[in-house]
Amino acid sequence: MNTEISDFLRKFNQEHILRHLDLMTDRERIGLLSDIEQIDFRHLAELYESYRLDLSKKNRKKIFQEIEVLSFCRGEVSEKYRKRLCCLGEDYLMQGKVAIFLVAGGQGTRLGFNGPKGCYAISPVKNKTLFQLFAENIRALKNRYGKCPKWYIMTSCENSGETRSFFEKSNFFGLERDSICFLIQKQIPALDLNGRLIISRDKKIFKNPDGHGGAIRALFDSGALQEMAREGIDEIFYFQVDNPLAKIADPLFIGAHVEHNAEMSSKVVNKENADERVGIIGRVDGKLGCIEYSELSQKEAQERRSDGSLRFRSANIAIHMLNRNFVEKLNRDKNFRLPYHRAIKEIECLDVNGHLPRKIQGIKFELFIFDALGFAERSVSLEVPRNEEFSPVKNRTGADSPETARRAMINIHTKWLKSSVKLSSIPENLVVEVSPLYALDEEMFKEKFIEPPQISSPFYLE
Ligand code: UTP
Repeated sequence: MNTEISDFLRKFNQEHILRHLDLMTDRERIGLLSDIEQIDFRHLAELYESYRLDLSKKNRKKIFQEIEVLSFCRGEVSEKYRKRLCCLGEDYLMQGKVAIFLVAGGQGTRLGFNGPKGCYAISPVKNKTLFQLFAENIRALKNRYGKCPKWYIMTSCENSGETRSFFEKSNFFGLERDSICFLIQKQIPALDLNGRLIISRDKKIFKNPDGHGGAIRALFDSGALQEMAREGIDEIFYFQVDNPLAKIADPLFIGAHVEHNAEMSSKVVNKENADERVGIIGRVDGKLGCIEYSELSQKEAQERRSDGSLRFRSANIAIHMLNRNFVEKLNRDKNFRLPYHRAIKEIECLDVNGHLPRKIQGIKFELFIFDALGFAERSVSLEVPRNEEFSPVKNRTGADSPETARRAMINIHTKWLKSSVKLSSIPENLVVEVSPLYALDEEMFKEKFIEPPQISSPFYLE
């Protein structure tokens, strides 16, 4: 082995790699060495050091502050103002100034579905996949506003091929091929608990996608930002693949963000109870960001405002507006870096002697999009009703599972039906699904709905 490489690996406490290299074929060795060349060892050593420091010393308690939100849920803000914001948002959509940005590069470990999460069938009657629902939503936006918003989808090395071929096989769900752009986020090596790189089953350095916060760089590196600039797109609607209720390119949210000249904005919902494990949009040591549930003390989590509501109640639902210039500015700033978060996860690796795959505890590093809020000079947090806009598919069963998401979809569409039906009765436990192509919201539904002689389950409208 080249002594330069050996010395380098030793210097960074990675000499176990030499043993792996010794046991490899020439071809495997070339592959592994080219992986190694791309690693920023100094940065990884810093990340590991910060992990060790956190283990050894007690963290300084951060200072948290609640934020004011814009809310139309409690009748405090006038209907006239709401309409004005909606019109502003609609104007942006009609002028084609908004892009849709879906992050779908995650591994979906908790759901345990074999494939990209967007290919998961979720709708209650037609079993449409998450991707299909979003695509129909975008087609409906085109029908409504006359312009089809461009759809950017971030994938990772792990699921990019499968995601693209799913779209190809499905004929892009009726959207124009060139209205969809795929981009791939970066990866970052994981480490074992001793700070050493992990060799994966395929004899490469084990890496994981760099988190949804990797979106900020991916938008730049892929050329998406430049393309948006050329096409007159000023604002980016960001959402995540696991929320089938996401109101894609909600004009109210766009309007609120644009009206405030905001650089990055968030949608929030009310935290259900003091113990709910959700992140809270708030100030962390004076900077806007997300307070993770584990960081709030019991006392802070229970604190109430004078109106009886929780002091820290604005739960993050990972829906944001990003101003294109803001994302561009971050990328051009040499000092800009989002912090890496750590998670200890089980990782399959190659045994250095026997070459048998085994599972170890490793440290995965990830960037989170909400940390970009701290760099925004202006931001709006818009409170929205949870039952209408947020029901993520995270776990196989129980809370935040396919079952709760389907139930939420049925509840919304049952409510629309109930508000429009005059003569027929709605059966108990009706399984109902309304395609986004039929109606995007209750108002549109009411305008279009023609009551059939009978409503029976399952009931589907398109
Ligand atoms: P999650 O935090 O739920 O992670 O992602 P996950 O990887 O999908 O699922 P688990 O934790 O392994 O069960 C929230 C959103 O961020 C995207 C996901 O695709 C999802 O839309 N994401 C996450 C990325 O795009 N890239 C990542 O590296 C991580």
